Amino acid sequence: MDTTLTVLSVVGARPNFMKTAPVVAELNRRPDEFTSILVHTGQHYDEAMSQIFVEELGIGAPDHTLGVGSGSQAQQTARVMERLEQVLLKVAPDVVLVPGDVNSTLGASLVASKLEIPIGHIEAGLRSFDRSMPEEINRVVTDTLSELLFIHSPEAVDNLTREGIAADKIHMVGNTMIDTLVAMLPRIEALDMPGRMELERGSYVVVTLHRPALVDGPLLADAMLALEEVATKYTVIFPVHPRTRARLPDRPRVDRSVRLLDPMGYLEFMSLVLGAAGVVTDSGGIQEETTFLGIPCFTLRANTERPITCGLGTNKLLGLEPERITEVPALIAGARARSSTVPDLWDGAAAGRIVDVLSRLRAR
Ligand code: UD1
Repeated sequence: MDTTLTVLSVVGARPNFMKTAPVVAELNRRPDEFTSILVHTGQHYDEAMSQIFVEELGIGAPDHTLGVGSGSQAQQTARVMERLEQVLLKVAPDVVLVPGDVNSTLGASLVASKLEIPIGHIEAGLRSFDRSMPEEINRVVTDTLSELLFIHSPEAVDNLTREGIAADKIHMVGNTMIDTLVAMLPRIEALDMPGRMELERGSYVVVTLHRPALVDGPLLADAMLALEEVATKYTVIFPVHPRTRARLPDRPRVDRSVRLLDPMGYLEFMSLVLGAAGVVTDSGGIQEETTFLGIPCFTLRANTERPITCGLGTNKLLGLEPERITEVPALIAGARARSSTVPDLWDGAAAGRIVDVLSRLRAR
């Protein structure tokens, strides 16, 4: 008789892979206790947005792929729900693990909860308090439906407690995205992207912008103008998310001073960040990764669900105000003088702590 606990992990979009990979690896290291099943919803499907992460992070080919692709918020979530339900009925896992806050996370949580399968949420308790972001809705609903809330920063306890979530469901385990970074750091350093791209370390700024609030309207053009100004002082390297690429005006003028690249794999991107003078972003995960690496980060958002990266780390909120990008060269000079601290339990061992919590379920 199989006495292992079957843990089904759902990934779908780029940042999910880094958060889930170390947990899957840890489950696979303990085959006497666990059977690990991986489901890829296919929310992200381009090679550069998906397959490269699966390969680089050594997660192994998914056991099930759902091919949901792009669509409206509702279409994407609904497709995840319909297709994942079939898999959950067949596999009948003991636990479903979902990371982060993307639409795949939400769809998976709704389906698992209705089938009465306990949910473990990796990166629970983050709040931007901005419900115009789809991610905020995804987080709130997923946390409400989860049995195990794996958190990585102390303010998550307050956020969850305020929403009436019982303390015994909350587990401070640390940051699995940082587990991936710690595990990959030797490869990231050895890759030497600055050298390969003939960039002097500290002479360039890396940019990522992809959120609807910024790229779906006129702010994107303002941001490009401001980046051109930064490019008079630093080389500006901008790997462009497909959503952003579709909305960028065809302006060769921009190409001349701001280097627009295709999306990069995880190792290449982190190696580039490691040599950067600073990063301009609207990403969530990059605020954390730069905090860990001590690289100045300037976040082009009105709020962050990761305030610890501003309090302890290297992150500074610029607001949703693209013209403030022009301040970045001066801010980099100021940021160098400031010391930063890595938050507690962002230590490379979070996945082990998650799997220890799961092993207690086995004993029940
Ligand atoms: C999603 C997440 C966001 C996360 C981001 C990381 C939601 C609500 N948003 O946003 O939280 O920060 O992933 O990238 O889940 N596209 C491609 N190829 C792909 C994937 C997307 O061309 O492989 C294009 C399509 O035009 C698609 C658009 O990008 O319509 C947006 O993709 P989608 O998955 O809806 O959301 P992201 O903007 O990537």
